[in-house]
Amino acid sequence: MNQFPGVDGFLGTRASWAMDTMVLVMALVVAVLAWSVYQVRAKRKFGLHKGVQILLAVGLLAAVVLFELDVRFNGWESRAAGVVGGTASAAVWTALAIHLAFAVFSVVLWPIVIIRAARNFDAPPHPGAHSTWHRRWAPIAAIGMTLTAVTSWIFYGLAFVA
Ligand code: HEM
Repeated sequence: MNQFPGVDGFLGTRASWAMDTMVLVMALVVAVLAWSVYQVRAKRKFGLHKGVQILLAVGLLAAVVLFELDVRFNGWESRAAGVVGGTASAAVWTALAIHLAFAVFSVVLWPIVIIRAARNFDAPPHPGAHSTWHRRWAPIAAIGMTLTAVTSWIFYGLAFVA
């Protein structure tokens, strides 16, 4: 697979190293997110939930920047086609469009939920006047991020495995 631009991945598919890393990062993000929501809902550990959500956002931002650099500099379509200079199928482009819709939604909503929570909950955080807003929008942000991950895996499967 060495003819493709960029560094080959480690999952044994046609994807690049950055794509493979992102697949694992998204799995980690979904797992840590679920754990953080469990900590706040079942155990009422508000401070732990805050710290984990902020760390998650910083880690995700770093991963997305590295991933975007790889995609912008090296492209992905040759790898998806399986031949240098090839083009991706209509199914791959459709999967990418669906994934991007969830990704853009998450990129917009996620910082809003964090910044509003950081500003409007007390420090250390506990339920208060901001709870109604947070209880409505934070679950939507969490579901949006989970669907961003699921749609990224569908895109990956269609583009680099099929
Ligand atoms: C994108 C980031 C975040 C997501 C996805 C998120 C998600 C959630 C979810 C799903 C709940 C449970 C809501 C319910 O009981 O139905 C929750 C509760 C809570 N979160 Fe977050 N959260 C985020 C960031 C933060 C931050 C940064 C803080 C603190 C500054 C925070 C403080 C709280 C508090 C205090 C509660 C309890 C609210 C209550 O029960 O009244 N969250 N969060």
